[in-house]
Amino acid sequence: MKTIALVGAQWGDEGKGKIIDILSETADMVVRAQGGNNAGHTVVVGDETYKLHLIPSGILYKGTVCVIGNGTVVDPKVLLAEMDALKSRGVSPESLKIDARAHVILPYHLVIDELGEDARGKADIGTTKKGIGPCYMDKAERIGIRLVDLIDRKTFAEKLKRNTAIKNRIIEKIYGGKGVNYESVLAEYNAYAERLAPFVTDASVLVYEAVKSGKKVLFEGAQGALLDLDVGTYPYVTSSHPVAGGFCVGAGIGPTLIKEVLGVAKAYTTRVGKGPFPTELNDATGQRIREVGQEYGTTTGRPRRCGWLDAVILRFAVRVNGLTGIALNKLDTLSGIEKLKICTAYKKDGELVRDFPADISELERCEPVYTELDGFNGDISGAKSLADLPPAAQNYIKTIESQIDCPVLMIGVGPRRDQSFKVVR
Ligand code: GDP
Ligand code: IMO
Ligand code: MG
Repeated sequence: MKTIALVGAQWGDEGKGKIIDILSETADMVVRAQGGNNAGHTVVVGDETYKLHLIPSGILYKGTVCVIGNGTVVDPKVLLAEMDALKSRGVSPESLKIDARAHVILPYHLVIDELGEDARGKADIGTTKKGIGPCYMDKAERIGIRLVDLIDRKTFAEKLKRNTAIKNRIIEKIYGGKGVNYESVLAEYNAYAERLAPFVTDASVLVYEAVKSGKKVLFEGAQGALLDLDVGTYPYVTSSHPVAGGFCVGAGIGPTLIKEVLGVAKAYTTRVGKGPFPTELNDATGQRIREVGQEYGTTTGRPRRCGWLDAVILRFAVRVNGLTGIALNKLDTLSGIEKLKICTAYKKDGELVRDFPADISELERCEPVYTELDGFNGDISGAKSLADLPPAAQNYIKTIESQIDCPVLMIGVGPRRDQSFKVVR
C-alpha cells in the first residue's frame, strides 16, 4: 500500500477535503500534521455537507483512524464542539488520536491575534483570528502549552499561571486590551482536558507503525503552498508548513515513508486574506467565478478573491512539494465563460519571469502573461471520464499539464464524492 500526502497547491481552499474524503474510502489512517482550525474542509455526501476544521476528513468513514499530529495547534473548545457536532449527526469521533506534543490554543492567543491584526492597521494579514499565529509564536519561544501539559492538572496550572501573567502584560500594556482571567480559563480548560485525555497519545508511533505494517496512510494537508511560512508569500502566510515536507516534522516521521504527493488545485485561483495575487480578476468574470463557484470562506465566510489559473504558481507547487500528480477541482465552475486564460509566466520590468519570485515586492511588480483558450459550455457535472468533457475542456487540461510538467490525475466537476474522476490515459 502507498502512503499518500495530499497538499494544497495554491492559497488554500482547493477542495482538499473532498479529495481526502474520496481517498479515505480505502485508507486505514488519515493524518493532519499542521495548522489548526484556520482550515475549513468541506465534504459533501449526498445531501449532507460537513465542514471540518480540525478533525481529519477521513472521520466520515467508520474504522478509519484519524490522527491530529504534533505539528498542529489544537483549540480544545473548537475540537470538542466539532466532535459533538459530528456525534449529533451520527458520526463517531471515537477513532481520533491526538499527539501529546501538539500545542494548545488558549484564549489569550485569540485576543492577541485580534489585537495584533488591529495594530498592523492597513498592513494586516487578514488572518482567520483563530489564534493560530500567536500559538505557534509560543511554540517557537518555547513557552507553549502542549496537550501533554493540558492533561496534567499541576503542570497546566503552573504553565497557565506563568503564561497568563506574560500575555496579560502584553495585552494590557502594549495593546491596551483586556487580559484574560487565569482562574476561569483554568477551570474551563481543566474540563476540556478531562474530555480530551483519552484521545491523547504518541501519534508518531502510531503513524510509523501503520506505514511499516503496510496500512494505507493518507496525510491531509491544510492551507496551501503559497501560505507556507517559509516558501509562501511571506508575510501574507500562515504560521505553519503546508508543503509536503511539513508532514514529516508535523507527524513525527521521515520523508522516506511518503511515496506519493498529490497537489490539489482549482481550475482557477482563489485567495482569502491579504497579499499580492497576479491573476486576480476585479471584474465581472471574477465576480462570476465567485458566485458560480460559491467562493466564500468555509471558516470565516469572507468572499474569496478570484482569478485565472496561474501556471507559475502550479510550477512552484510542483517544485516545493515534489508533486507526483495534481487533482484539479472545480472545472465545472468555468463552464460558460467564452474565453479562458492561463497565466504561463510573469513580466517584470520588461523581463519574462517563469519561476514564482521569492521576494514579495518583486511579485507585486509582476504582470501575468496569458495564453488564451476557447472556453466550453454545458453542464459537465456528470462527467465520469476525460472523454465526457467537451474538447475545449480537454484542451484546457492538456495546456495546464504542458505548462507544469506534472500529470493531472483527478478532475473535479462538482462538490460531491461522486463528482471527481480519475484520469485514465
Ligand atoms: P479545502 O479547504 O481545500 O478542503 O476546500 P474548501 O472546502 O474550503 O473549499 C472548496 C469548496 O469547493 C467547497 O465548498 C467544496 O464543496 C467545493 N468543491 C470541491 N470540489 C469541487 C468541484 O469539483 N466542483 C465544485 N463546483 N465545487 C467543488
Ligand atoms: P484550508 O485548509 C485559505 C489564510 C488566512 C490568512 C493567512 C493567515 O481551508 O485551505 P492564519 O489565521 O492562518 O494566521 O491566517 O492564511 N488561511 C487560509 N486561507 N484556506 C485555509 O485553510 C486557510 N488557513 C489560513 O486567510 O490570509
Ligand atoms: Mg478551506
